[in-house]
Amino acid sequence: MDPFDLVIRHGTVATAGDVQRCDVGIRGGRVVALGEGLAKGKEEIDATGLLVLPGGVDAHCHFDQPTGDGSVMADDFTSGTRSAACGGTTTVIPFACQMKGQSLRAAVEDYHRRADGKAVIDYAFHLIVTDPTEQVIGQELPALIRDGYTSFKIYMTYDSLKLNDRQILEVLDVARREGAMVMIHAENSDCIAWLTDKLELAGKTAPKYHAAARPMVVEREATHRAIALAELADVPILIVHVSGAEAVEQIRWAQGRGMRIYAETCPQYLFLTADDLDQPGHEGSKCICSPPPRDKANQQVIWDGLQGGVFQVFSSDHAPFRFDGPDGKQVHGADAPFSKVPNGIPGVETRLPLLFSAGVGEGRITLEQFVALTSANPARLYGLYPRKGTIAVGSDADVALWDPQREVTISNALLHHNVDYTPYEGIRVTGWPVLTLSRGAVVQRDGTLTAQPGHGQFLPCDLPAPARPRTGRAGAV
Ligand code: URP
Ligand code: ZN
Ligand code: ZN
Repeated sequence: MDPFDLVIRHGTVATAGDVQRCDVGIRGGRVVALGEGLAKGKEEIDATGLLVLPGGVDAHCHFDQPTGDGSVMADDFTSGTRSAACGGTTTVIPFACQMKGQSLRAAVEDYHRRADGKAVIDYAFHLIVTDPTEQVIGQELPALIRDGYTSFKIYMTYDSLKLNDRQILEVLDVARREGAMVMIHAENSDCIAWLTDKLELAGKTAPKYHAAARPMVVEREATHRAIALAELADVPILIVHVSGAEAVEQIRWAQGRGMRIYAETCPQYLFLTADDLDQPGHEGSKCICSPPPRDKANQQVIWDGLQGGVFQVFSSDHAPFRFDGPDGKQVHGADAPFSKVPNGIPGVETRLPLLFSAGVGEGRITLEQFVALTSANPARLYGLYPRKGTIAVGSDADVALWDPQREVTISNALLHHNVDYTPYEGIRVTGWPVLTLSRGAVVQRDGTLTAQPGHGQFLPCDLPAPARPRTGRAGAV
């Protein structure tokens, strides 16, 4: 009997901890050996000249999420995970979103129905808590956390989603008691509403004014408040999609005080600016997302934060709305004001190549940092490590083979999502994932999907160790 189902031979294997030349032996969907000159496998992949990396873990993406404003997400679990796999990602964590008035359990059951049998790579769920009733706080949330839904997002903005400070504290308190990770979308809702009204009264409704309605102070204030609430509740939090200097300053300050404040950023804050919203007609709406992209100086601050450890996670925040057609960016018409444009941009497939090329390729971050930010850290922060996020004996054989020399000009025609544009059209990158394995099965080779929907399995998550309060006390009070 062959000792291995598959051996990846002669590659350079990198994890968040080190880089080494060795073979990878895979059996039963798991890594079972790392070493030189491994015995022959039933199948062999020659990885000479290639990097052998843990598959990406995209811990922030939206697939088939009900929106409530008539718009429809362009990607379901099949097209979304197909696109992810073709970009070197092997695990995604999208969001089961509670609608106000809905039970959280019902939202999770609905989301399972949307995912079952459709994904080509493995997936877990974050929850989005929008209606923290007594029943949700006292029973549903604790029970769901114990069932493996160990992270949830809360919003400080968007009328249909936002919580007030008291509600945030209630949610943080449950997270503390149960050991879950809370992700926070930090923008001050009232400030945005006030600015939006003023802009619209002045006739300033074009997409570019989306950025004016959400200046950095709005993000800074909410980030500071989220940190203060977390301090009061004595629980770690993770601030998602951080866009620029002012929020970074708050996070750095809190981290400097020894607080467990984690932070995520995304490609749009490295590769886009507010100028990308300033395009003829409605074109700028393609880049409407929140917080909005800032400017070149802020891009540099984000790079500094990636290099220096302010950020632990680099996610896509893939939120797929088509530009053309009646249910995407133009759901309220081609001339709709910016405040009526669905927020979010696609990026699940381009996340890794963009960071690899501008980060590792151009010497801004090391290969180990790249793996940490895009795979190992999100797996740790959301209770999936070491099953996901590394190449080690016992880990799932979720592996991406990268050609570090492959030059690609990003174009929507090349991508596998269902969105009709990419905001990164025309950007040249060096380095591309040429083959992706999910639990030892080839799911993507040279841009061709080779897996069937249903290969991807649901992953219940462990309680993440980084969500433990620093003090280790039994309760904040
Ligand atoms: O604009 C964004 N980021 N849309 C996606 C939803 C969210 O808040 O992450
Ligand atoms: Zn958000
Ligand atoms: Zn998001």
